[in-house]
Amino acid sequence: MQQSANNSDPDIRRVSRVVRGMPATDGAGVELTRVIGQPALPMLDPFLLLDAFRSDRPGDYIAGFPQHPHRGFETVTYLLAGRMRHEDSAGHQGVIEPGGIQWMTAGRGIVHSEMPQQQAGLLEGFQLWVNLPAQHKMDAPAYQEHPVDAIPVEVRAGGIRVKVIAGVTQTGTRGPVVQPLTEPLYLDVELPPGQVFSERLPSAHNGFCYVIEGQVEAEDADGGVVMLQRDDLAVLSHGNSVELRSGDLGARCLLIAGRPLNEPVARGGPFVMNTKAEIRQAYDDYAAGLF
Ligand code: CO
Repeated sequence: MQQSANNSDPDIRRVSRVVRGMPATDGAGVELTRVIGQPALPMLDPFLLLDAFRSDRPGDYIAGFPQHPHRGFETVTYLLAGRMRHEDSAGHQGVIEPGGIQWMTAGRGIVHSEMPQQQAGLLEGFQLWVNLPAQHKMDAPAYQEHPVDAIPVEVRAGGIRVKVIAGVTQTGTRGPVVQPLTEPLYLDVELPPGQVFSERLPSAHNGFCYVIEGQVEAEDADGGVVMLQRDDLAVLSHGNSVELRSGDLGARCLLIAGRPLNEPVARGGPFVMNTKAEIRQAYDDYAAGLF
């Protein structure tokens, strides 16, 4: 039916654990699912947070995320359905459309808002927080926005489609975002039924797979098969490559990996620094209008 993975190959990453998101409320009352940044998975260095939102009930999302600050990391918004208007204190503004991404480097400080541009219909997408190393937390803020037609799609054998949002795939497709500080790879992978997707990953990167639709099969450390369902996040062990296969229904998943910073992490709401003193400084600077 499909090629089988080589159980004896230590370089293939296994599923080391599966995490389910937990319901959370953020912004002005947006109902979402917090997958990274919750008790079961506080972080996966360099990833500090992953929120998934998917609702066709305006009451879940209409209040949006009014003005709020960030310091010390990057926020990445990837929209699958719906429209979000954003504005920030560095003068950037625009509307993220379905399939588009916004990659914001908060650096030393930015104030932004993210508001749904619809009164009805489905709003679906993700927000990922990517940490910055200590030496670059106080860099000037930066901002990138890439619409759907700027995100390359790699079509592989078997009809597998790979949208490359960040980083470079093994076949050389380069996403619009390249961040040398954490070398993130951010792929949106669609598999027709019964296909195997494999991809090389730098062996020291932390990586995970998050299932958007269908079912994804991968191997665990004992060589058993783990069946991942929609909204499951699988933390991957270290290794040079990953193999994911789709079940009878096909599958769609995010494959995300990044180089861990291995630095102390101090969190305070919308700020992520290395020490508590730096968090206090961030609150003081924000209160003083320095962002
Ligand atoms: Co924000």
